[in-house]
Amino acid sequence: MKILHVTAECYPVAKVGGLGDVAGALPKYQKKLGHTAMLVMPMYKTPFLNTHQWAVVHKGQASLGDYHFNFTIIREEGQSLGFDLYLVDINGLLDRPKVYGYPDDPQRFIAFQTAVATWLQSWKSLPDIVHLHDYHTGLLPFYFKHGYGFRRLENVPTVLTVHNAEYQGWLDWRNSSWLPAFDEWKSGLLEWNKTINPLASAIKNAWAVTTVSPSYLQELRFHSNGLEALFEYEKGKCSGILNGIDSELWNPQTDGLLEHHYHAKTVTAGKRANKKAVSENFGLNPDKPLFTFIGRLVGEKAADLLPDSLAAFLREQNGAANVIVLGSGEPEIEAGLQGLKGYFPANYDFYKGYSEQLSHALYAGADFLLMPSRVEPCGLNQMYALRYGTVPLVRRTGGLRDTITDIGDNGNGLCFDQASIGDILMTMNRAMDLYAQPKKMEALRFKMMQIDHSWEKTVSQYIDLYQSLIDQNKQSR
Ligand code: ADP
Ligand code: GLC
Repeated sequence: MKILHVTAECYPVAKVGGLGDVAGALPKYQKKLGHTAMLVMPMYKTPFLNTHQWAVVHKGQASLGDYHFNFTIIREEGQSLGFDLYLVDINGLLDRPKVYGYPDDPQRFIAFQTAVATWLQSWKSLPDIVHLHDYHTGLLPFYFKHGYGFRRLENVPTVLTVHNAEYQGWLDWRNSSWLPAFDEWKSGLLEWNKTINPLASAIKNAWAVTTVSPSYLQELRFHSNGLEALFEYEKGKCSGILNGIDSELWNPQTDGLLEHHYHAKTVTAGKRANKKAVSENFGLNPDKPLFTFIGRLVGEKAADLLPDSLAAFLREQNGAANVIVLGSGEPEIEAGLQGLKGYFPANYDFYKGYSEQLSHALYAGADFLLMPSRVEPCGLNQMYALRYGTVPLVRRTGGLRDTITDIGDNGNGLCFDQASIGDILMTMNRAMDLYAQPKKMEALRFKMMQIDHSWEKTVSQYIDLYQSLIDQNKQSR
């Protein structure tokens, strides 16, 4: 079947978080099954652009109300990602260094979607499935079904994957002229709580909706930043499909970003060598247990609890454990984490920013990975941790609940219930007890590394879902 993914991020072209990882891997594994998988995303100004070859495949024009723009679609020659990658170039709007965070993000992503729909109209043979990711692409099901000028796309089945429902892309009705013209009585299909809500619109209009873990789908009916009733109402077309990981990229045996390679049988020595390398880079003693946190420093990840929790832990341990934090986000959290450096110079460090290389070095070198998330739709970090033999310490929520079970229940990590300093401290102390039992630790690492969360295992669930929509489409015509 012919599948087109539409997304705002895709690793290694442009990545902010896990959405990038999923978009960079899922089409590759669909292609391996023999399907034609393609992906289209905005053309940002990232290094990938200059290090790869491109061919222009389409030039078009579109408009957001009175603002008319030209766009160009380019395709990567050589398929370095393992599937056809298309970028949408819109001068002045998309060609910027960052993916998100500009005041005109709403216009940027609406222009992107308008360009994608306009381009699709020109295809000789349309995709069998258009798979959309998060709110940045959430208006497309409405465009296809109800936008004037997109009639050819009316019967193209759409799937929306909700990676994170916290962000919905709210837009004031004053800006409705940015959208293609539509029958006014259909405006309810764009709206939620009196604003245009692209995520809600996608949930209403897509043929099927998936969430990135089964537990997250259950949780959304009770906590989804205002969309609870909608998830309840639309539950019939929603399903939870747990993300996989790209096991070719995330493999401690071959990982090009690691100094020392290892596998399950050599895990203890392999991790020791990586811990030595990463600890020494930060001037920390490599003979102590090493804890890490890797991620966006935002409330969702409970990163606001880190400065106080880590201070209490390091004080209590009095030099017996080390912590390295990698991340960026809210300025107060960054400042709190930066501030700790002065108090615990021999046991703590904070790398403010984004570093793919350091993240791999930490997954391999750390003994424990902390994830106290308040919200975690799936979480990939804990799956990378498992693959690299690093014990995850997770709060039981969303995808963390679906992937990590406490060792007390014969599981693969340490779990806690509250996003609180008390629970974080208690669990870090349990980790210290575990570390003091090398045999137990080695057996656990070996066990974690056998767990298969690869996309090979889960990709067929998407294919089955697509097939059911294609069949439904045939029957209804
Ligand atoms: P989310 O998408 O909510 O941020 P995930 O656990 O799904 O969380 O994915 C996060 C991804 O981003 C992982 O690949 C993780 O290693 C990576 N990541 C997050 N922050 C950083 C950072 N500061 N430097 C490098 N990689 C990071
Ligand atoms: C989102 C979620 C994260 C998930 C990722 C990939 O960013 O916050 O939990 O793993 O998407 O689906």
